[in-house]
Amino acid sequence: MNATPRSDRTRVAIVGAGPAGLMLSHLLALAGIDNVVIDVRERADIETTLRAGILEQGTVDLMTTTGVGDRLLAEGKRHEGIAIRSRGASRRIDFPALTGRAVHLYPQHEVLKDLIAARLAAGGDLRFGVRDVGVQDVMSESPSVRFTEADGTRVVLSCAVVAGCDGSQGVCRTAVPRDRRTDYFHAYPHGWFGILAEAPTSADELVYTHSDRGFALISSRTPTVQRMYFQCDPAEDPSGWDDARIWAELRARVDGDDFVLREGPIVQRGVIPMRSYVIDPMSHGRLFLAGDAAHTVPPTGAKGLNLAVADVAVLCQALERLFHQGSTELLDSYGRTAADRVWRAQHFSWWMTSMLHTDPGADAFDLRRQLGEIDQITDSVAGSTYLAEAYTGWPIVRTNPDSVVAGAIATTAGRTP
Ligand code: DHB
Repeated sequence: MNATPRSDRTRVAIVGAGPAGLMLSHLLALAGIDNVVIDVRERADIETTLRAGILEQGTVDLMTTTGVGDRLLAEGKRHEGIAIRSRGASRRIDFPALTGRAVHLYPQHEVLKDLIAARLAAGGDLRFGVRDVGVQDVMSESPSVRFTEADGTRVVLSCAVVAGCDGSQGVCRTAVPRDRRTDYFHAYPHGWFGILAEAPTSADELVYTHSDRGFALISSRTPTVQRMYFQCDPAEDPSGWDDARIWAELRARVDGDDFVLREGPIVQRGVIPMRSYVIDPMSHGRLFLAGDAAHTVPPTGAKGLNLAVADVAVLCQALERLFHQGSTELLDSYGRTAADRVWRAQHFSWWMTSMLHTDPGADAFDLRRQLGEIDQITDSVAGSTYLAEAYTGWPIVRTNPDSVVAGAIATTAGRTP
């Protein structure tokens, strides 16, 4: 084996080919800033791993105006509302009426497929299946990322900036020394039991359900494949649940006069943990964290991918300022700008969770109080507008008017969805 690693060079080394890393690579390429994306996972894993499916209006707009939205518009489904269900009845939150915006149901792995295809078609440098990733010299102006390529070649990738987009289990977060950061963490006493079922659609829009047995969510993937979740113990073992038991539990939570749960074979099942996390600051020297590397949200409200996209929209504007105008000014404020949205999303995800989930040890008072809250949200314009604003997403911040991101946002500003 060759003792000397190969030296490669780029301007932005992006660690992680998830929503944050791939979207950043795409935006930077449009801005003429060369970059390399590495990931320890294989392309096939990235393109098939099941995650949430709701894209905020701003995510949809940024994808469509930057040329990666064709399939999303053709195959995704625009949703103009959700149902909040309790006591056997649903009440609808009408997004366009309340906010002028909507969301799209389009699974995360489809977004990733589209971004990977766009980067490869544009000659982008994506390296999958790498190992032994490490980040070095981030306090200098010439940091680097070292890794071993799939064929065993060791590489040192020198760059001006490292973008840490490698998720909550990646190496980038740990490159920020413990005494230089604050970790904000909250564990919820619930998990989500998620299933994928070959069944027809039960409802045209997502159904978020409160019941005295706990939360349930009816979502969809295609007309013949449905995604559903129900609140469970975070330590629940999915192998203890056969199809009949799962359907009985879901039915017990969502059934009512006007709703029939359409069932079919369950083809995938698993338990998703629920936690909130934010690192502060979101950068360390020339290392900038984005997406799940910097923060985790519980799944309620599907903010994870959307936060990743919003982070890199801010980061790209800051990098354009650095590379095109020679100023680190926007990089210096990147973390503060991104964290503003992150904390709003943390609150929203926590709040939706607290309104709709049953805490262990919840008593009759707690359940009635939750119903009071649900009534106040669904029956009041002020209450439902807060939910609709947060669910459809806040505007992506324009920090650099000369940026491709600012140009893309301007194209959609004032447009009715
Ligand atoms: C989905 C997941 C969510 O967490 C959510 O709030 C809405 C939809 C989904 O997987 O479809």
